[in-house]
Amino acid sequence: MHPMLNIAVKAARCAGGIINHAAQNLDILHVSRKSHSDFVSEVDSKAEDAIINIILEAYPKHSILAEESGVIGNEKEPEYQWIIDPLDGTTNFLHGFPQYSISIALKHRGILTQAVIYDSIGNELFTASRGRGAYLNDHRLRVSKRSQLSECLIGTGIPFRDLTHIESYLSMLKDILSRVAGIRRPGSAALDLAYVAAGRYDGFWELQLEPWDMAAGCLLITEAGGLVSDLEGNENYMNSGHIIAGNPKIFGQLLKIISPHLTKKLIA
Ligand code: IPD
Ligand code: CA
Ligand code: CA
Repeated sequence: MHPMLNIAVKAARCAGGIINHAAQNLDILHVSRKSHSDFVSEVDSKAEDAIINIILEAYPKHSILAEESGVIGNEKEPEYQWIIDPLDGTTNFLHGFPQYSISIALKHRGILTQAVIYDSIGNELFTASRGRGAYLNDHRLRVSKRSQLSECLIGTGIPFRDLTHIESYLSMLKDILSRVAGIRRPGSAALDLAYVAAGRYDGFWELQLEPWDMAAGCLLITEAGGLVSDLEGNENYMNSGHIIAGNPKIFGQLLKIISPHLTKKLIA
């Protein structure tokens, strides 16, 4: 295993321990609201601190972009940047709904090179290193082989904090759900992307994500043979936050269904 991936795994497992321990005592958790429907608990911060400490202990000069701490390091274009979501699916976690994850990715000179997504409840560790494939625990991952949309299971996320694009989203949803076998919205975008890499979903789309929701999942998918783009089929998803992913046969079909629903606001 690449030494930097090894550090990411160590950090993710440590955060997983903190999260699993806290999950046993949800009633005593201190929770605050960042904005409408955006909750943060002391566990998010504790897990993030633990991840950052492990990374900076190993690589003190590396830069960090983490959901709760923001940017750490003062270089404009850092050589190494770690992108961290310490708890993806906080709302699920707070409700004892067992679908959440830890997501850690590393960019080297602007290119994603290492990725970990850890489901600490199921003890499922998804990892990828650029050029070396994607794994779930010790098993090599490949995206699914389905080519008929009518047989596909598609993941998504429903906008809930900022409803700017809700009408466009609902029209996409309506169009897609009438053509596929099923749609799921479990509530952890990072884990959703890992499931595309694992072939559990055949495709996925969501609007208004943040870089820490997507970074690790995107490398997992491409290393598993899948495709990822923004809503227009370009690579701007880390900036726009709008993402489509899937196996190579389904990806293009999703893109085609979504394209008539694009508004100026969505592609701006
Ligand atoms: C959220 C989850 C959710 C997605 C939201 C994210 P958080 O992350 O990934 O699935 O729909 O857009 O913000 O806030 O729980 O880390
Ligand atoms: Ca998140
Ligand atoms: Ca989070």
